[in-house]
This record gives sequence, C-alpha cells and structure tokens, in this order.
Amino acid sequence: MAKLWGGRFQKNTDAKVDDFNSSIRFDQRMYRQDIRGSIAHAKMLGKQGIIPQEDADKITAELARILEDIEAGKIEFLIDAEDIHMNIEKILIDRIGDAGKRLHTGRSRNDQVALDIRMYLRDEVTEISAMLTHTLETLISLAEEHTETIMPGYTHLQKAQPITFAHHLMAYFEMFYRDAGRLSDCVRRMNVLPLGSGALAGTTYPLDREFVAKELGFDSVSQNSLDGVSDRDFAIELASTLSMIMMHLSRFCEELILWSSHEFSFVEMDDAFSTGSSIMPQKKNPDVAELIRGKTGRVYGHLMGLLTTMKGIPLAYNKDMQEDKEPIFDAVDTVKLCLPVFCDMIATMTVRKESMKKGAAGGFTNATDVADYLVKKGVPFREAHAIVGKMVFYAIEHDKALDELTMPEFKECSEAIEEDIYQAISLETCVNDRKLIGGPAKETVEKAIANAKIRLSEMR
Ligand code: ARG
Repeated sequence: MAKLWGGRFQKNTDAKVDDFNSSIRFDQRMYRQDIRGSIAHAKMLGKQGIIPQEDADKITAELARILEDIEAGKIEFLIDAEDIHMNIEKILIDRIGDAGKRLHTGRSRNDQVALDIRMYLRDEVTEISAMLTHTLETLISLAEEHTETIMPGYTHLQKAQPITFAHHLMAYFEMFYRDAGRLSDCVRRMNVLPLGSGALAGTTYPLDREFVAKELGFDSVSQNSLDGVSDRDFAIELASTLSMIMMHLSRFCEELILWSSHEFSFVEMDDAFSTGSSIMPQKKNPDVAELIRGKTGRVYGHLMGLLTTMKGIPLAYNKDMQEDKEPIFDAVDTVKLCLPVFCDMIATMTVRKESMKKGAAGGFTNATDVADYLVKKGVPFREAHAIVGKMVFYAIEHDKALDELTMPEFKECSEAIEEDIYQAISLETCVNDRKLIGGPAKETVEKAIANAKIRLSEMR
C-alpha cells in the first residue's frame, strides 16, 4: 500500500517493519477522539480561510459518516496504514479525494497524537471518577451500619486498641477521597490543547488555536510547541494516581483476605464473590480480593515503564513515545475492572460482628485505657504505663482479660484503682470516650459520615 508519507522513498517498507512500526492494534481505541479532533481542526481551517469552506464541510460530514461506520463495525483498519490517525485520514481520502487531502494542513501526527491521547484519557478519567464516587458511597453506607460494631484496631498487626468497623471503613473513605482529588488535579493539567504545536515548531498558517480548544472542551492552549508534542507528564501523573488507587484497594483487599481466614473470621465473602478449589472440597477462597491485590503490581509496573520510557528522550517527539499507549491504557483498564467488583464484593460480604467483638475483647486492647484511668486518678502517665505493664503480665499468667481481674487483684497493682475501673475500661467506653475529631466514638464517626456526605456532594 502507498504510504501517505511515501513521496521521498524509493522502496516499500519491509513487511516486518510495517508490522513492528504499526500501533493500530492498540491505538484504534482512540478513533472517536481522533475524529472529533479532526472535525474541530477542519472547521477551524475553513473558518480561517486556510482551506475552502466547502472542503471543510465535506471533511466534517464525511468524518461523521466514518465514525458511524466504525461504530457499526463496518471498517477494517490496516496494519500498514500504521496508526489510527493515518487509517482514518486514508479512509477519508479514499472517500472524498482532494478535499480529504486538505485535512492535514497545518497539523502533524505529533500534535495530533498528543491531542488524541489527552482527550482519550480525559474521557476515561471521567468514568473512573464516577466509579470512585460509587466506591465512596458504598463505604459510607457500610459505615452507617457499623458505628457500633466494635473490632480490634492493630499496629504491627498486633491488637492495639478497640475501634469500630465504621471507623475502619471511613479511613478508606479518606484515602479514596484524596484519590478522587488527585484525579481531578490530573485532568486540570491534562486539559491543555497541544494541537497547533505542529511537528515541533508550530506552523506558519494562521490557525485559531483558541477556537479549537473551545470546540474540544480544553481549558487553555499549550504555550510551547516543543513541550506540546513531547509532554507525556499527564499520562505519568495519571499512572501514578491509578497506582495510588490500586495501592489503597490492595491494602483493603489484604485485610479482607486476612479477615476471611478461619483464624480471624471477621468477614465472609458472599458465595458469588468467592471461588472453590478443584481438589479441596471445603475451600472458599477470596480470589477477587487476591486478584485486585495482584493486579496492583501491573499498574505500578506501567508507572515505572512510562517513567523509564520518557527519561532519555531528547526534545521533541521520538517514536519511543508510541510506547506510552499500551501501559497507560492497561492501567486505566485495570482500575476500571477492579473498582466495580471491589464495591460489589464489600457490599455483599457478611460482617461477623461477634468475632470482631471477641477479637477486641482479647489481647488487652484496653490497656491504654487502664493507664489513662490511673492518670485521671493522679498517677503520672509513665508510672501508670509501668503499672499496667505489670498488670498485663499478671493477667497473661492467670489467663484473664484486664476487665476480668478482681478488685483485690487491681488493688494489688495500684491503690488508686476503685470500683469505677470496670466501667472505665469496658470496650464501649474505650471506643465511645474517644470523641475528639478523628476518633472512633459512635457520635464522632456519625459526624464524620455526615461530613463525608457533604464533601461527596460538593465533589460533583
Ligand atoms: N503512532 C504514533 C504515536 O503513537 C503517532 C505519531 C507518529 N509521529 C511520527 N512522526 N512518526 O506516537
């Protein structure tokens, strides 16, 4: 097939090179953005009198038909037409001849691809943001059900202090809320029109870049033509934000995997979100959570891949940059795959409140509260800490929880302890006296949930 750029060549491209060079297999997914960008460019060329208005009209009308034909599955893309940009341009020329040949005036594939990928990723981020919003809503409605579900909080995966499941869920709300903010920051920097940068040095045609920006929903136009064609920061920034989302999903999934074990039994995944073993009949495995944890690695890999691809590229465009697409597309696809299944998995799991409570009752999670009790009775904190340390040692030896010690046993540890100790160190008191902002008390978490709902409504 004759190349659109074939004029200065005496030989055909080697078939292996055609195949090697071609990106149509993976960049065809940008066909909608490519056509939308070309329609705006053609309109502007007509308006500026750079090409005849009637040619501009023919181009825009035919591009709309090509879009319909692609969506109807009537078009077969060609490997040797290299990429989505030249495939569409070639179809246009085949259909309308000379008018079609005027479309690429004042434009290079370098600024064209920079435009298309920005528009494509911008659309994808809109979808991911909606999924993230749904995740935030799911966390909130689960949290509303569990403001009194006491569970152990951990540090070093050792039982630390009692909290509630709602408090734990709302910690993830905060993480994913920040991720939503990162996504919108990312789009803000992405939403700058590169078209008009030409191959690298702009063009002599009187393009109206502001007009094109407006047509395509960009907030501004790029201010340096070299940067316009060679910036891929926005893709890397997105890959970093997607990595962060995966990291947060993965941490929660790791907890759910642990909590589904017989040893914890804090949660049980719904049958619809678990799988069995081909040999062990008793097994019910949290595969969904494990796969999300596993897929996190591939998204991190794409971030590192993109950074590495870009690190040695002299200005401006180099073909290396065609390697940006597969990693960022796969990162986007992976997050879009994980978020909905994660939401449904947590919405359908059974929360074993009794096991959580039992978990919080063991392991001396109220030891800090015994020390705080002593402080309130006038004992200096460091001294109280030492007294309770000895008390825990005693309780371990006698196989008792702290609130199972008798009054004489307490008195043995400290004369300052009185009958009100039992009330002061109950799990409910430990949780519900931690009322300060950010704390796990029922009333505080209820306020946090109300505040989260407001922040969520302001996000839209
Ligand atoms: N398929 C190319 C890419 O993805 C489009 C730009 C090609 N530009 C060029 N001068 N070869 O980067």
